Amino acid sequence: TSTNASGPFIAAIDQGTTSSRCIIFDRDGRIVAVDQKEHEQIFPKPGWVEHDANEIWANVQAVVAGAIANAGRDVAGFTPSDVKAIGITNQRETTMMWDKNTGEPVYHAIVWQDTRTDALCRELGRNVGQDRFRRQTGLPLASYFAGPKVRWLLDNVEGLRERAERGDVVFGTMDSWVIWNLTGGVDGGVHVTDVTNASRTLLMDLKTLQWDEKICASIGVPTAVLPEIRSSSEVYGTTSVGGLTAVPVASALGDQQAALFGQTCFAVGEAKSTYGTGTFMLMNTGETPVNSYAGLITTVGYRIGSDKPVYALEGSIAVTGSLVQWMRDQMGLIKTAAEIEELAASVDDNGGAYFVPAFSGLFAPYWRSDARGVIAGLTRYVTKAHIARAVLEATAWQTREIADAMLKDSGTEVSTLKVDGGMTANNLLMQTLSDFLDVPVVRPMVAETTCLGAAYAAGLAIGFWPDTEALRANWKRAAEWTPRMDAAERDKEYKQWLKAVQATMGWLD
Ligand code: G3P
Repeated sequence: TSTNASGPFIAAIDQGTTSSRCIIFDRDGRIVAVDQKEHEQIFPKPGWVEHDANEIWANVQAVVAGAIANAGRDVAGFTPSDVKAIGITNQRETTMMWDKNTGEPVYHAIVWQDTRTDALCRELGRNVGQDRFRRQTGLPLASYFAGPKVRWLLDNVEGLRERAERGDVVFGTMDSWVIWNLTGGVDGGVHVTDVTNASRTLLMDLKTLQWDEKICASIGVPTAVLPEIRSSSEVYGTTSVGGLTAVPVASALGDQQAALFGQTCFAVGEAKSTYGTGTFMLMNTGETPVNSYAGLITTVGYRIGSDKPVYALEGSIAVTGSLVQWMRDQMGLIKTAAEIEELAASVDDNGGAYFVPAFSGLFAPYWRSDARGVIAGLTRYVTKAHIARAVLEATAWQTREIADAMLKDSGTEVSTLKVDGGMTANNLLMQTLSDFLDVPVVRPMVAETTCLGAAYAAGLAIGFWPDTEALRANWKRAAEWTPRMDAAERDKEYKQWLKAVQATMGWLD
């Protein structure tokens, strides 16, 4: 963090899968202050993942107050009124409903990784296939997306459908929940979402950017519970709680779209890949949505105020960083996530082992909710170090499969991979990525591109930055890895990986 920064500033809240954080940025896009807090991961049954939305809102308030306190300590003359706008970014698809009269969530939030709607999705696709709503929404029918999770809540929480029909209960992804609370909650909070988050529900038409009433009816979601869809960069309301009062809440983007924005991928063909609990590669495809035939999804990249929306192709990988966490928390093979690098580097190769972490089924390019994880190729020779290596390679091979699909769909080769996110601190992983994709991998100076993107969109909305060109000037390369792997070796390994992937499918019938 820079201590010689001077205001004014923009704050961003990132309500992520494992933690919530708040970062304050200056006009050069440099980090001035940070605070972060983890929340509990609740696993009630195999395949189920939940969050406590009250805990999340408490954490969001705490990290906003914490970042402000840190700025007060580190920046000479700082006052909270130096923060001119606040932007929101969030884990996408995670679904909750709450009573708008009391502010009480009706159930835990159902997390994007949760597979409980698998059977429902298959039922919805029966006779028609999982591409039933793809033309309008850009998405296959999969347990990943929000719409079927809303239907599950309405079917399974007692009395909920009646309360929803009476207009007492509303739905939102985490952006809606945070904005509603920030702007006053039961005292006049605004119930909105942005186009990027709405594009992950299976309920929004990609071209009109409105809820599709027919699809809502087919999935069984009454439109009365849905938030208003707004652009990603405009003032939705002003804060009326916590350490910030009367500050415009001026952006909302799903975290992956925010990272695309923070990496300044404003031109057609520019792409980034973010390594968090999951990994998501997005490529800007311009002002018309591009259909995918190779297993990617079509999503809204961002929309600045009343400008035309910008679309993206996305390759979503459910499990990457969360596999390292699983190695630490469930298997106890490492004590800290960072240790995985040292352990993996203690051997020269994977010893013949391949780990396909299909814990939430397989996302892109397969979309198989019935897949479950496998470790393949085991012999008595394999040690925990080989498994650690296979864990890192899993992230790199999954990225390679997405890059191949991007090329098929867009005709554009990802010639340099712009990366960000927590796992990019792992040098061995970054080198392996470069080797498996056979392209240079570059990381920008500010690796917190998710928060940065939300701050940029909020700053644009209030005129803090004049235009996207001004933002591009802030992007600076910090590190680069170049391919070193022999081509024949790469091809051989890729084939083995693809065989292991086949072994994950069909575990649930
Ligand atoms: O679609 C899920 C994604 O938004 C979650 O991102 O960074 O919390 O893994 P992250």
